[in-house]
Amino acid sequence: MTTSPASSPSRPQGGKDQDPDFVHRAFSSIAKRYVVTNHFLSLGIDVLWRKKVASLVSADDPRIILDVATGSGDLAMAVQKENPEARVIATDFCAPMLEEARKRGLRDLLVADGLRLPFSDNSVDALTIGYGLRNMADWGAALIEFSRVLKPGGRLVVLDFSLPSHALLRSPYRFYLHRVLPRIAGWLTGNREAYAYLGDSIERFPSGAEMQKLIEANGFEPADWYPQMGGISSVYSARAKDEEAPLASLSS
Ligand SMILES: C[S@@+](CC[C@H](N)C(=O)[O-])C[C@H]1O[C@@H](n2cnc3c(N)ncnc32)[C@H](O)[C@@H]1O
Repeated sequence: MTTSPASSPSRPQGGKDQDPDFVHRAFSSIAKRYVVTNHFLSLGIDVLWRKKVASLVSADDPRIILDVATGSGDLAMAVQKENPEARVIATDFCAPMLEEARKRGLRDLLVADGLRLPFSDNSVDALTIGYGLRNMADWGAALIEFSRVLKPGGRLVVLDFSLPSHALLRSPYRFYLHRVLPRIAGWLTGNREAYAYLGDSIERFPSGAEMQKLIEANGFEPADWYPQMGGISSVYSARAKDEEAPLASLSS
């Protein structure tokens, strides 16, 4: 597939949170504390959001599922649990994070950049990514890469932070994101810098209708949006376009 990412709105502003060297270093340094910190900061509610992703995927009864930017494997484990017959391959470009996934029992692990997946075109039935797309250098290029490896009609499910649409919730959430979270996470992981950019990163990352447009502009059919807990996280789901379809219908 040779499609190039749509120029707008796929081009990110490019903060430090999208610099692959910084991201790689940051996750390498917090890998051992990531799981505890993550569950503490979300009060364990992220389990429900991951379950939502897993149930969307299982609707199609997929055989091969790729979990990209798997980190220490929480989403891959949730997806495997919901899809016991499927082969779930978990990839990440940060080996220390994958090592944590291995310690937690995952075996189908692969060090790989989400922007250059070592899989052939049309080879996977479903692809999931949780809290990983936001840190990639080019969101549009990543989505194009996901659509390349997915079979036509294959299911993409993205889980990431978003901003609540209701102002009453948005203001206190912003305060938590920018003032409270970096302090607690820095204290728990011993690396405050790794979390210093999280608030700005979430502010910059498209959410809601903007993210639906981004997905649709980069290789996918219209996307569904499922805001979680007033919109502090969002799940997006879309099917990979069948790029050959218009030609096939012309020749018939
Ligand atoms: C916040 S963690 C999310 C881990 C896990 N998916 C979860 O839901 O908890 C983000 C992960 O994305 C990975 N990552 C960021 N950019 C990546 C890239 N270009 N290719 C592969 N992995 C990437 C990082 O190494 C890190 O493990």
